[in-house]
Amino acid sequence: MNETQYSFFSRVLHWLMAGVFLYQIALGYLMQRADKPFKFILYGRHKTLGLILLMLVVVRLINRLLTTVPSLANFPLWQKRAAKITHYSIYVMMVAIPLSGWLMSSYAGYHPRLPLLGVVALPVDESKSLADVLNKVHFLLNYGLLTLLLLHIAAVIYHSFVLKDKVLGRMAFFQGKGNKV
Ligand code: HEM
Ligand code: HEM
Repeated sequence: MNETQYSFFSRVLHWLMAGVFLYQIALGYLMQRADKPFKFILYGRHKTLGLILLMLVVVRLINRLLTTVPSLANFPLWQKRAAKITHYSIYVMMVAIPLSGWLMSSYAGYHPRLPLLGVVALPVDESKSLADVLNKVHFLLNYGLLTLLLLHIAAVIYHSFVLKDKVLGRMAFFQGKGNKV
């Protein structure tokens, strides 16, 4: 790693999880519109993948705490603040979304499965009303995440094409051509 880029492991985790999160959001939307019995297979996959993402977020947060993040010292204060607020909010959503899904399924009495570990049940009593509330929470959090991701991607486009700096290179597997870090 050099001081102008995230560590190799952080970059791999970012792109792997970005792809899987976007797939998972599309799956959550499409599975509800699928026909039975395929629908049940997709629900199962969504839950399993959601729990795998939750475990990956934990790994990512530990890695974030243990590694140095490239400095934003050359950027105006408002950009540093906007980046921090957006990134922290995305992390909050990345934890809250799978947790709300897991709780929703547990209250509904449908427990998710993990490869090797089998069924992973949360110790809660079934409650249809709580499952309904958590269904709405899960839905709203996903819209929150999508809004943040629109801002996130718009910011990268603004940096790359308007400011023409190397922000994308901080997370990419190349350095970028801009003249500012
Ligand atoms: C095409 C899509 C995407 C692009 C081009 C992109 C690009 C970037 C770039 C350039 C950074 C570094 C920003 C900096 O140096 O301050 C970054 C950070 C980050 N991105 Fe993305 N990203 C994309 C999608 C996503 C998705 C889908 C997620 C989450 C589901 C995500 C979550 C994050 C987070 C949490 C950070 C902060 C990293 C940290 O400081 O720990 N990104 N992204
Ligand atoms: C990483 C995480 C996750 C993402 C991004 C995600 C995303 C989504 C999205 C976009 C929907 C569609 C919302 C709607 O249109 O109403 C959805 C529905 C659903 N999710 Fe997730 N989800 C995740 C994790 C989980 C987990 C871990 C579980 C359960 C263990 C779960 C269970 C469900 C269920 C049961 C539905 C369907 C609700 C219904 O039929 O009304 N999700 N999810």
